[in-house]
This record gives sequence, C-alpha cells and structure tokens, in this order.
Amino acid sequence: MAQLWGGRFTKETDQLVYNFNASIGFDQKFFRQDVQGSIAHVTMLAKQGILTEQERDDIIAGLQGIVKDVEAGTLKITEEYEDIHSFVEANLIDRIGDAGKKLHTGRSRNDQVALDMKLYVRDEIGQLDQLVKHLLETLNRIMEENLHTYMPGFTHLQKAQPITLAHHMGAYFEMFRRDRERLADIARRMNLCPLGSGALAGTTYPLDREYSAELLNFDGATRNSMDSVADRDYVIELLSALSTIMMHLSRFSEEVIIWNSNEYQFVEIDDAYSTGSSIMPQKKNPDIAELVRGKTGRVYGALISILTTMKGLPLAYNKDMQEDKELTFDAIDTVKGCLALFDGMLATMKFRSDVMENSAKHGFTNATDAADYLVNHGVPFRDAHGIVGQLVLYCLEKGISLDQMSLEEYQKISPVFQDDIYNAISIRTCVEKRTTKGAPGVMEAAVAENRRYLMEN
Ligand code: ARG
Repeated sequence: MAQLWGGRFTKETDQLVYNFNASIGFDQKFFRQDVQGSIAHVTMLAKQGILTEQERDDIIAGLQGIVKDVEAGTLKITEEYEDIHSFVEANLIDRIGDAGKKLHTGRSRNDQVALDMKLYVRDEIGQLDQLVKHLLETLNRIMEENLHTYMPGFTHLQKAQPITLAHHMGAYFEMFRRDRERLADIARRMNLCPLGSGALAGTTYPLDREYSAELLNFDGATRNSMDSVADRDYVIELLSALSTIMMHLSRFSEEVIIWNSNEYQFVEIDDAYSTGSSIMPQKKNPDIAELVRGKTGRVYGALISILTTMKGLPLAYNKDMQEDKELTFDAIDTVKGCLALFDGMLATMKFRSDVMENSAKHGFTNATDAADYLVNHGVPFRDAHGIVGQLVLYCLEKGISLDQMSLEEYQKISPVFQDDIYNAISIRTCVEKRTTKGAPGVMEAAVAENRRYLMEN
C-alpha cells in the first residue's frame, strides 16, 4: 500500500478497504495526461517563484524519465499504489529525492483528477471526431458512386417511394455530421482549466491559473473553484453524444442486417467482415452489425450510470465521482471500435443495384407519382389518390406492377391516362423529378456540398 496520506492515522488501512478505494486499476489510462498536467503545474510554480528553476527542471526531467520507463516497459504501474497520482509522485520522489516532494505544492488530487479527466476526454474527442469524419468520407464516396442506383425508400418498413442509394446514405451523412458538431460543441464548452482550484477553495499560493491554462491549451481557467472540482457535466455531455452516435450506428446496423438478409439481398457483406456458423455450413452472418447494435446498450448504460451517480452529490468533490472513469473509458473505447469496424464493413460492402432497382419497381413505390400525373392533368389530389388506389388493387389481383398495365386497362379506370403515363411512373423519372432541396433528384449537389464540408472541417 503506497499512499499519499497517513499522518493523522494510527492504523493501517484494511486491505479490503484499500482495494475497494483504489483506482490505479483504471486511472492509469490517463497516466500521460497526469504527467502533462504536472509539468504545466511546476512550470507555473517556477514562473511564480514558488519553486526554483532548478527544482522545476529536476521535476520535469524526473517526470519525463517516468514516462520513458513506463513506455519502455522497465517501470510497471502496479496495484501497490492507490491511484495514478500516487504512482507518479512516489516514483518521482524515488528518482529525484526532496524536490519531488514539492510537485504537489498548491494542488489537490481533486483539481488534479478533474484536470486529468478533462485532458483525457479532450484528447479522445479529437480521435472520435476523426473516426466519424472517416465514416463521413466513406459515406460520401458511396453517395457519389450511387447517384443513379435506384431503390425503394421505406416508411413503416413498407416500400414507400423510390429513392437512390445516394439519398439513403445522404441521410446517414447528415446524422454523423451532427454527431461531429456535437463533439465539437462539447470540446469548446469544456475547454476551461480546473488546475489551481485546489481541494475546493483555491490556494493561498500566488498561482497564475491563466498561465497553467495556457500551457495546457485551454481557453482559460475555470471561473469557480468549487465547480471546478465538482463538475462532470462534460463527461455526461460526451456520454450523451456517444449514445447518439451509437443510436445512429445501431439504426444503420439494423438496416445492414435487413438488407443482407436472404429475403432482401440488397447488399453483400464482405467475407472479411462476416462470420460463419459452427453447424450450418451455408451461413454468412452479419455479426459485426449485430455487435455494434448490441453494444449500444452498454454506452446508454454508461450515460444513465453517471447521471445517477451525480444526481445526489453535495458540493464539492465526493469520492462517488471516481465512478466516472471506468464507464467513460469503456464507452469511449466501445464507440471507437464500433466506428472503425462499421466503417470498414460499409466501405467493403457490395451494393446490389439490380436487386434494389427491381425491388423499387415492384411494390408500387411509384403510386404517388401516378396520382401526381392525374393531378397535373387537372384531377384533384384526393380523387387521384382514390383512382390510383383502384389501379393498385387491380395490379395486386393480377400480380403485376403499374408499368405492366396496358393503356386500355389504365383508361378503363380513368380516361385521363395517356401514353406518357409510362414515362411519368418510371423509377428514373420518379427520382430525377424530385428536385426540391434535400430530395433524391439533387444528390449530386449534396455530394459536392458534403465534399466542401469535409474539406473545411
Ligand atoms: N481517484 C480519485 C478519483 O478518481 C482521485 C481524487 C481523490 N481525491 C480525494 N479527495 N480522495 O476521483
């Protein structure tokens, strides 16, 4: 048991208490950020004349030595330390002696852990953003290649109107674009530095908190020292944004699973991204999509968990807040893994345009366009709707599609129909004529706008 405290105790900590209390098993994840924060802290202390330049240099060299040795594997982060902060400080003192004991001047583990967590989350947001961006690039490529790949659009999972694959992928592009905006928004709002807030009430040393903030690339120092050590809003916001990303990935996964089914066969998942069955030799399963859909639950769980942990906490720091770490780390790693794997699966997936187009042709996705045809010839929409309803019923009875009806059959139901009905209800016309903003007929412009966005962001 290596602890940073003990002076006022007369007994050793019970081993079970020690184990229950310790966080080294997981907070070693922000080892680098902890050192980074300490380097900024001592740099500021020396600037303020609280440490000498020599002490500062010795401490920084010692800290860098620790990082080097941990990276080389010659120094192990072990459970004998209570947390990562204790590990770093104890090792520093071992290395450089008394100067190491000055590292924690004007600092508490409360502002230290608040800083470490912020630095970690900020770094991870950068990586998450790049993964989402890569997925957007994949989506825009698929859009560009499939501007004229016709397919049915669905409502209630029933064929509704013809669209293009570009249009469908474009919807996901918008969702993941918003996800990036959410991440950027969180990164901006959280970017104030808690270092120098002490345990809760600041310190009596003449710290320059703005200088520490600047060294660590924050926009400034936090405004209230109690809030600085008690705030985990940014963790909640991140987990909320991650939950939304997972919700999007999960919906997308669900579609991939449906599209990959024997009944649909809209897509074929690449061999490298599917798995087999131990008993049924014919099987090729969409396990990646299913796992992504399944892992959504644990990310939602993390969000609910931290919301619940925080809801009853009096100001300022409480040990309950140590619970923010494992679930945040797990959620971040889960989402990163899901984004990378889903992206890879999507990028290598084969889209079967023949099957998709055929499906759009059968299922009356052009029924609205047949009604619109009548409206363009002076029939009120409600009447047109009824007439096309009769056409559909007629086709269903004969087992044919609208374009397979003869003109005589059309005219028996309404004399308004002329020869140009066939062009009006061709899938291509249905799609290309939909040119209102955001509609499937204008996806070429959407691809260009997406590309501009990706270049600028
Ligand atoms: N491991 C602790 C945490 O994660 C570090 C802060 C400890 N502070 C304290 N007052 N015990 O929250």
